[in-house]
Amino acid sequence: MAHNRLTALRAMVLTFKHDPFHTDPAESYTFYPDGLVVIQDGKIRSVSAYSCAAVVDIEVIEYPNCVITAGFIDCHVHYPQTQMIGAFGEHLLEWLNQYTFIAEQQFSDKNHAKNVAALFLRELLRAGTTTAAVYCTVHPQSVEAFFEESTRFNTRMIAGKVLMDRNAPEALLDSAQTGYQESQRLLQKWHGNGRQLYCITPRFAPTSSEEQLAAAGRLWQENPGTYMQTHLCETTDEIAWVKQLFPSKKNYLDVYAHAGLTGPRAIFGHAVHMTEEDFCQCHQTGSALAHCPTSNLFLGSGLFQLFTAKKSSRPVRTGLGTDLGAGTSFSQLQTLSDAYKVSALNGTQLTALHAFYMATAGGAQALYLEDKIGKVAAGYEADLVVLDLASSPLIDFRMKYTHDFVEKLFVLMTLGDDRCVRATYVAGERVYDRSRNDPFSYATKNQ
Ligand code: GUN
Ligand code: ZN
Repeated sequence: MAHNRLTALRAMVLTFKHDPFHTDPAESYTFYPDGLVVIQDGKIRSVSAYSCAAVVDIEVIEYPNCVITAGFIDCHVHYPQTQMIGAFGEHLLEWLNQYTFIAEQQFSDKNHAKNVAALFLRELLRAGTTTAAVYCTVHPQSVEAFFEESTRFNTRMIAGKVLMDRNAPEALLDSAQTGYQESQRLLQKWHGNGRQLYCITPRFAPTSSEEQLAAAGRLWQENPGTYMQTHLCETTDEIAWVKQLFPSKKNYLDVYAHAGLTGPRAIFGHAVHMTEEDFCQCHQTGSALAHCPTSNLFLGSGLFQLFTAKKSSRPVRTGLGTDLGAGTSFSQLQTLSDAYKVSALNGTQLTALHAFYMATAGGAQALYLEDKIGKVAAGYEADLVVLDLASSPLIDFRMKYTHDFVEKLFVLMTLGDDRCVRATYVAGERVYDRSRNDPFSYATKNQ
């Protein structure tokens, strides 16, 4: 831990001042071609152009041809699905039954959960992601395992126990009452424990009874500051099933609204098939959406309407999600590459500025953490990623034919992946360094 010790990082620096969806993108960011980020006690103390005078008596780590941004934020991901990424051939509902619900049963074994959580967190950090909203499984021990591992890295993670009391294998079911009690106990132990934050997690409307959804809503209202995550309008088959299961409700979002599950710190994954009324309701209630492009393409779910979601007259808070294991990559760069393609199919253009905003400050805003993370600015928690602009022969070659920094960023998100990540900092500590023999030596030291 850094005790009053000053560390400084020298590289290009990119950070956002405004939302490029709502202002002139050219005015939305600050870029230092030769910048200096000074870190003290886990926080950013200052950000400025590099000068010799600024670094007297400070240890400076230099990253030539690299750019520092805020650590990436993944607003929707399932850690227990790490073992089943790239499962062949099915759409959502069959995919859940054939692959997901089989894999998740193994998390009754805490040891298995610990091993997968440890690998999952390393993969996130290797990809430059420092905060994520994470689904565990129905087993409380899967949550304990995840938060224990996250605590070792001191990462700011949002996670919770999945609630399911119907339409899943017996071994994965809780009940309205036990789900409430177990979530309450986990929440009391973990919410605000170090940097950990608790998220009440009814999986989606089809796997919860109305009673369970209402209990989840009650628990959430009783515990201000906690989060709520679930899935919404991911596929047309799923929407038709919700209509059948909840005939008295107006639509899918209405099922959640009735249970008290909309509002600030609600995160709805996917939201692919939304009406204007749905977007308005999310705007009015302050609920957030997680755009999961690699997953929506992989499962053939559909195309998220990002620019409609972000419409300036009623913007909806929107972050980026990998949605692993339906998503196909831990890397937010690869996720942005697919977000660009989804936008193109919708007839819109996702610029690199829109994209990097969504992966950093936009994600922080979606999670109501915009005063703590998502920016490289004084007072912010020092969660940072150092991106190498020449991490592969092709990227290095392609960069020579770029004309400005924004074009370089676009090449990075189109061709880049975890290999671009030179180092990852969590609360000021270098937890991942690509150039070390053991890139996670900090973490193993604390085992
Ligand atoms: N809907 C309900 N559960 C899941 C899940 O695990 N992954 C995805 N992509 N959608 C879901
Ligand atoms: Zn999901």
